[in-house]
Amino acid sequence: MLKKTMLVMGCVALFSSAAVASEMHGKALYEQNCASCHGMGGKVSELGKKLKPFPARDLTALSEVVDRDELRRIIAYGIRGTAMVPKRYDLDSAGIEDVIDYIFTFKRKINMVNGKKRFEQVCATCHGFDGRAKTGMGAKNLVYSGLDLKETVHTIRYGRVGTKMTSKRHQLTNPDIEDVAYYVHDLRFKSDTTKGAKLFASTCKTCHSSPSTIKLRGNRARSMKLADMSDYLLDLRIRHGRHVDRAGEKVAKLSEDDTQNIIAYLKKETK
Ligand code: HEC
Ligand code: HEC
Ligand code: HEC
Repeated sequence: MLKKTMLVMGCVALFSSAAVASEMHGKALYEQNCASCHGMGGKVSELGKKLKPFPARDLTALSEVVDRDELRRIIAYGIRGTAMVPKRYDLDSAGIEDVIDYIFTFKRKINMVNGKKRFEQVCATCHGFDGRAKTGMGAKNLVYSGLDLKETVHTIRYGRVGTKMTSKRHQLTNPDIEDVAYYVHDLRFKSDTTKGAKLFASTCKTCHSSPSTIKLRGNRARSMKLADMSDYLLDLRIRHGRHVDRAGEKVAKLSEDDTQNIIAYLKKETK
């Protein structure tokens, strides 16, 4: 009988603590478990700044640029070797979701001036001041990159394994990373299909009466539409190799930007 009562009492205690936990808002959970290091509102606290080997990170810059999955993983499992210990013992999974919802309410303004400054300090040696990567470092031309904002941020945060593109997470704060990502996207070349149409008429039309009459070579490519091929591969097929022998030097001498404009026009016409 005693045993049974204890069991019932235990269940009531469990049940009510779960109820309390779900009542507690993400904000309260955050303030209780995170704010000592990450600060109220996600701006790192004085204590957080002094942590070794790495300070706590600003959380205001994450909402638009980092996936929920990534935050969930970091919060649950922590970051080995840092003061960010796993939180899955303190928070249940619903609690973690509530905390993430709260973090996603943090807002900050993008600072393009800072983005430019940090890009020039940290990225330009490889990617060039204009982002076109004419530096001999084998970096990617960011001006034609097709990555979305989250993918760009992910690349900056974690780098690319086995390349010179190493993680910049400890060189840049999260606000820096967000600003740099916006800046990099602002450097992008904006292709112009009207210019592309003019160039097509002056350099291609003698042999290709219209974009839709162009046939791609190769078993797989033959069944593809021009619009399905990546800009990079199309550029290779137009300005390099066999096509240059057929089409002549005029095509090989097209500038990168002219080629991008032509490609944008070809794609628009063959969609
Ligand atoms: C004792 C201090 C401390 C507490 C408490 C703490 N963190 Fe952290 N947190 C850190 C540190 C230090 C880092 C950075 C580690 C690194 O640079 O690798 C970090 C990193 C993170 C990151 C990754 C940020 C990024 O840019 O990659 C997230 C997300 C995070 N913490 C969320 C939380 C949440 C949510 C809580 C509360 C549930 C919490 N932290 C509690 C110290 C703390
Ligand atoms: C030491 C040289 C170096 C530095 C410094 C560097 N990068 Fe890179 N970056 C590279 C290389 C090399 C690649 C190509 C990696 C690959 O082959 O996937 C690359 C690739 C990238 C990509 C992927 C582009 C795409 O379309 O796939 C982005 C985005 C990027 N870098 C942004 C940055 C930013 C922003 C900075 C500064 C915060 C930076 N990089 C600093 C060398 C560098
Ligand atoms: C002097 C004639 C000539 C001119 C000018 C010319 N082309 Fe071509 N192009 C060809 C021929 C011939 C082929 C077919 C090649 C083959 O079957 O290998 C071809 C094929 C192509 C292909 C498919 C290539 C592949 O590998 O699948 C593309 C794309 C293309 N041309 C685009 C262009 C564009 C864009 C221009 C103008 C900037 C242009 N061409 C100018 C003759 C020309």
